Amino acid sequence: LGAGVSILLSTTAMAADLTVGFSQIGSESGWRAAETSVTKAEAEKRGIDLKFADAQQKQENQIKAIRGFIAQGVDAILVAPVVATGWEAVLGEAKDAKIPVILLDRGVDASQDLYLTSIASDQVEEGRVAGRWLTENVKDKDCKVVELQGTVGSTPAINRKKGFEEAIADHKNVSIARSQTGDFTRSKGKEVMEGFIKAENGGKGICAVYAHNDDMAVGAIQAIKDAGLKPGSDILVVSIDAVPDIFAAMAAGEANATVELTPNMAGPAFDALAAYLKDGKEPPKFIITESKLYTPADNPKGEYEARKGLGY
Ligand code: AHR
Repeated sequence: LGAGVSILLSTTAMAADLTVGFSQIGSESGWRAAETSVTKAEAEKRGIDLKFADAQQKQENQIKAIRGFIAQGVDAILVAPVVATGWEAVLGEAKDAKIPVILLDRGVDASQDLYLTSIASDQVEEGRVAGRWLTENVKDKDCKVVELQGTVGSTPAINRKKGFEEAIADHKNVSIARSQTGDFTRSKGKEVMEGFIKAENGGKGICAVYAHNDDMAVGAIQAIKDAGLKPGSDILVVSIDAVPDIFAAMAAGEANATVELTPNMAGPAFDALAAYLKDGKEPPKFIITESKLYTPADNPKGEYEARKGLGY
């Protein structure tokens, strides 16, 4: 018992000594809010002192926060980068200060030796999964798709577009008629969808909406209903994230498919960091999370219940 207690004490003391800065993008979506809650809970579970900074969707705020963390001498920095470019300088400053940086859920266009690891999904594959679902379901029918893109310049917007286009490329009956950013938010998703509906004969020319996240899809569903059409049947709805609200929409017959993105990026990040700080063990540069497809056949009510309270 004595030895057990002393091991426990020393592990707890080690964890409590760790201070980690987290530069979060903001709270543009239900998924993002869940990632924030899960990260805080994972830190608390491990006795890590987490310094949290909300950048309100602005890269300049993220850069300021990272510089602040460096000045405070934190042990590590987590960052969910709002856009892909413009990180070389500040990540270089963290490297010079010997502070490991871990990227969460989005990538950067910067040299790989500027960060320890990146925990994210394969965003191109997410787009492919969504596109494959659509082509398999419309079969030979002509299908005009409208696309709601994520934040301009962010890796999920770039990659989810690419993957979807790849998946539909050999299906001449399926094409993207209109594509615009909805900034990953519900309100912008609704507003942009209203414009698409107006431009496409009151929505009658649209076969499907592909949204780069569920929040925009939920906004689009509202716009479709306001136009007197049925989301889920008159216009198919496919998106990414698997947040509770999209399962509620599926249970109501108003959404057709979503690709899951786990909000728990922090668990693998803290595990990789602990191993690195303990033995200097370099983690793989990319730790890829799963991209699972869910449809109304997958017990949407149960999935909604299972997710409620998990930080969403
Ligand atoms: O980077 C991940 C994306 O960012 C999520 O799919 C979206 O909801 C978000 O805000």
